[in-house]
Amino acid sequence: MGKATATTKTPLFCQSKLLCFSLLYLFTTLFLAFYHKVSPNNCLFRSSPFDPIQSPLFRYPPSYGEHKYATTATHRHSCSSPVFFSGYGKVAEEIHNLCKNSSAFLPALKYLQVKGDTFGGNLSLEERISYFNHTNNDINVPCGFLKEFPVSYSDRIAMESCNGVVVASAIFNDHDKIRQPIGLGSKTLEISCFFMFIDDVTLQGLHFHKVIPQNSPDYKIGVWRIIKVFSEKLYENPAMNGVIPKYLVHRLFPNSKFSIWIDAKLQLTIDPLLLIHSLVVSGDADMAISKHPYYIHTMEEAMATARWRKWSDIDGLTKQMEAYCEKGLQPWTQDKLPYTTDVPDSALILRKHGLGNNLFSCLLFNELEGFNPRDQLGFAFVRDKMNPRLKLNLIEVEVLEKIAVEYRHNLKKFGDIMVGPKRAKRPSQGHLFLNQSRCQNYLLTMWG
Ligand SMILES: *[C@@H]1O[C@H](CO)[C@@H](O)[C@H](O)[C@H]1NC(C)=O
Ligand SMILES: *[C@@H]1O[C@H](CO)[C@@H](O)[C@H](O)[C@H]1NC(C)=O
Ligand SMILES: *[C@@H]1O[C@H](CO)[C@@H](O)[C@H](O)[C@H]1NC(C)=O
Ligand SMILES: *[C@@H]1O[C@H](CO)[C@@H](O)[C@H](O)[C@H]1NC(C)=O
Repeated sequence: MGKATATTKTPLFCQSKLLCFSLLYLFTTLFLAFYHKVSPNNCLFRSSPFDPIQSPLFRYPPSYGEHKYATTATHRHSCSSPVFFSGYGKVAEEIHNLCKNSSAFLPALKYLQVKGDTFGGNLSLEERISYFNHTNNDINVPCGFLKEFPVSYSDRIAMESCNGVVVASAIFNDHDKIRQPIGLGSKTLEISCFFMFIDDVTLQGLHFHKVIPQNSPDYKIGVWRIIKVFSEKLYENPAMNGVIPKYLVHRLFPNSKFSIWIDAKLQLTIDPLLLIHSLVVSGDADMAISKHPYYIHTMEEAMATARWRKWSDIDGLTKQMEAYCEKGLQPWTQDKLPYTTDVPDSALILRKHGLGNNLFSCLLFNELEGFNPRDQLGFAFVRDKMNPRLKLNLIEVEVLEKIAVEYRHNLKKFGDIMVGPKRAKRPSQGHLFLNQSRCQNYLLTMWG
């Protein structure tokens, strides 16, 4: 009797196992077909068809950057947090209106305006930390520019007149090739401006390959306006000069409202307005930044930095990590959620130029000057200690791979210059010998 009742309750088509499985198979196949049609890569979803600019933005001479290959993507199949794009027309209008509404970016952060020995003011760790708790908006925060940023007058005017979305990048030491973005929408160049910062070495390379003519006062390569930085007046280390536009983009472009920083090893393949809209505006984030593919703890990144000689001053790295341990840096744990990692990859940074981002970017820049330009190392320390809290969107690796193509650096010529000061203080074994009593707490928590 019980059995008979159970049978009548089962849907009719499932009384035959074969029919049931066939239907299940059919629906699954249909669903998957539909899913693939909507999103060819499972990570990015567009709500409407999109018709980007197809014509080439610039024709390069064939000799320029011929040996730069794209690195192979990891081709991760899963996508834990897919990104949804609204229709391009609506997005362009919304961003355009938002950029005209300055009250959406208030209160404004006030900056320290004095002359300094260095661009960032050479502050001690104690001085730098004293600005982390920002409860009084009348305080002037140190944020670079304590020496002049050396660019030409016409370049400065161009930078100040960018009042929408700025896309910025930099090539110091001829380390990369200038690449044009792919997939720009038809209105994007009216609302956004593209600026590439270069030094004299890079400029010579561009002259050599006849990418830009000699003696031309203003340079443009495709979408990019090229800004020559007279970097001999700044830091000795080109990597340190590179982090000025990377972290102080809101000050170089004081009238801009949003920015995208993109390392020159990456080529953007999605329209910048769509990215700003879906990764920053729609989730009300201050900043969106790409995650490191493997590391979640700052110490893992510091150890890798020493091991792979990404920074040759191992003593300096050790001192930095010990100082952060002492000042209370913790490894990543569930307690830090919604932040899902302590280590960004930082090749792609999207920002809303409001208080949260501007404060964070200034404080992190000060850490970079104080220790070294390896920006992943100070990231979690500043983020976790900063008040107000940073509203941060951490971009998954598989999403980044759909947003940008990564190319190898120009390793042959200048491979040794980006890695740190010319002479390490002592020969490095590639290991951090941390003072156990300072970092014991951190390491015990990290190793569980
Ligand atoms: C401008 O932004 C503010 C703050 O986000 C908002 O309250 C206001 O409605 C916006 N004004 C317009 C005209 O969109
Ligand atoms: C930075 O400050 C330290 C001491 O606080 C000093 O030894 C060093 O010379 C200063 N560097 C510059 C470039 O002024
Ligand atoms: C930040 O400053 C405010 C006001 O001075 C104070 O009440 C608060 O305890 C401080 N927070 C931290 C974490 O030091
Ligand atoms: C390690 O740190 C402790 C506490 O800060 C300090 O007393 C000690 O001198 C340090 N040891 C070394 C070898 O630097």
